[in-house]
Amino acid sequence: MLKIQYISHSAFLLSDGENTIAIDPFITGNPTSPLVQEDVNANYIVLTHAHGDHFGDTTAIATRNSSTVIAVNELADYCAKQGMNAHNMHIGGSYKFPFGKLKFTQALHGSSNSEGQYMGSPAGVVLELGGKKIYHCGDTGIFGDMKLIGELDKIDIMIVPIGGNFTMDIDDAVKAVEMVNPDLAIPIHYNTWPIIEADPAKFVKKVEAIGKKAREMKFGEEISF
Ligand code: NI
Ligand code: MN
Repeated sequence: MLKIQYISHSAFLLSDGENTIAIDPFITGNPTSPLVQEDVNANYIVLTHAHGDHFGDTTAIATRNSSTVIAVNELADYCAKQGMNAHNMHIGGSYKFPFGKLKFTQALHGSSNSEGQYMGSPAGVVLELGGKKIYHCGDTGIFGDMKLIGELDKIDIMIVPIGGNFTMDIDDAVKAVEMVNPDLAIPIHYNTWPIIEADPAKFVKKVEAIGKKAREMKFGEEISF
């Protein structure tokens, strides 16, 4: 069983009933989040990179839940220095956690914290949970090796940014879906602010036009697989 809740922006809660994973839990200061950070409990937090709209409420959630923060080495070290439990990994490395295997992938982006400190490479993540394989692209521009990511792992659910300006726009995201070839694509990183305005229905239509499946998740919506 896999339950997915889309908090909004890049933030998700994933659960198999036993383990709950928060990805990029940006809630406080996120104008589209229907939740408050106090609502969010997770025993793992996965961070794609350190930008404020992804690191978000990591400190509060991790401290309250004694969560393990999974991130690339530099960012994980930073979390450990703040007193959090951290699991250091890096791009291309995978590790078998109690919930399943998790691997960080390349992302074309930056990663610094709110003080401007370098926090290692930005990343995407491929993780197994509840019998499904999920690829959360993080913040990224399109790159040809997305095809390889889809060849190495049969992706069930691809979580893909469509908002442009900082990441892929709809057209690049559709091409990315074509390369990765997931069973289902879910659009993210749009409409949080006017600068990343995009129409998720348009993305869904364009993905369907190439014979693939996509689904918009409303902010706060939960679906089970
Ligand atoms: Ni970013
Ligand atoms: Mn972002």
